[in-house]
Amino acid sequence: MRDSAELTVSDALLEWYDRHAREMPWRTGPADRAAGIRPDPYRVWLSEVMLQQTTVAAVRDYFLRVTTRWPTVQALAAAPDEQIMGEWAGLGYYARARNLLKCARAVTQDHDGRFPDNFEALLELPGIGPYTAAAISAIAFDQPETVMDGNVERVMARFYDIHDPLPGSKPVLKEKASALTPTSRPGDYAQAVMDLGATICTPKSPACGICPLREPCQSRVAGTQADLPRKTPKKPKPTRYGHVYVARMADGAMVLERRPDKGLLGGMLGWPGSEWNDDPTERAPFPATWKILPGEVRHTFTHFHLILRIWSTDAVHRDVPKHLTVVDKHSFRPSDLPTVMRKVFDLWRGQ
Ligand code: ADE
Repeated sequence: MRDSAELTVSDALLEWYDRHAREMPWRTGPADRAAGIRPDPYRVWLSEVMLQQTTVAAVRDYFLRVTTRWPTVQALAAAPDEQIMGEWAGLGYYARARNLLKCARAVTQDHDGRFPDNFEALLELPGIGPYTAAAISAIAFDQPETVMDGNVERVMARFYDIHDPLPGSKPVLKEKASALTPTSRPGDYAQAVMDLGATICTPKSPACGICPLREPCQSRVAGTQADLPRKTPKKPKPTRYGHVYVARMADGAMVLERRPDKGLLGGMLGWPGSEWNDDPTERAPFPATWKILPGEVRHTFTHFHLILRIWSTDAVHRDVPKHLTVVDKHSFRPSDLPTVMRKVFDLWRGQ
């Protein structure tokens, strides 16, 4: 038995993970893995796609709903596009959902319903980039790939006391992380680093006193941990404006529009409206008595803030242009709307 001073970094982290791994609905924990239980690559893939740009807490319910409705990659591949877009509503970054379907269909049609078990082959699939390919090969197939996300970058910047700012420092951080990645239990190890970043090596007030890496951590010794990782300041986001139009038919049906597949909110349902820019022109989707509502909706996307004015008309008794989608009263589910369109609905309903 080695004493703790001789434990390598990965041994120390794995020992900590064995005791403190977070429970997650997609995770095969360290005890189950040790007992020979293999993770389901479908659940690993789905969770890792959902977790990009989204917190574990936000993903949990979405993951459970999607896997209950579509328990296998084949079942997901057979789902109509609108159903998965509806289930994804609220998670954001909707290109992920469109690529998810493409990937499920590619795995089903071209790979006999089985995910490839290595980084290079995974990278060939739609919507799978270096992060997801590394995460699936490590977590589902125990390949010694290095999984980099914001948590891992923070842990590496602190452990090696690296002061170069992100994103420029990413290659150095990746190199450091790769050198630490063990060949034994790489799947548990990848998740251990992420858990450490999420629960102990947190962005603010890291809990160094209980960290399994506190002894060798260079920034703890230097006292710089709270200032790391440094970040190059981002450009401020511009603000854009728009008009949207909420029409209810005489029978209670709602008039929506499915957005084109390409671009922001691609493939999602929304209210018809103007362009979003500095000074948008009012553009009602059809002639009616439109009334502007008091108040506005604000929403922030990755690259800009958006402020929307809402127009409304009621009891419409006419055919509407063909590019619009009339959703009858009983089929209309506000939860199918992306967050910005849901905010519009909530403001409209409150009037
Ligand atoms: N964040 C993204 N993927 C994760 C995982 N597999 N475990 C913990 N945190 C994560």
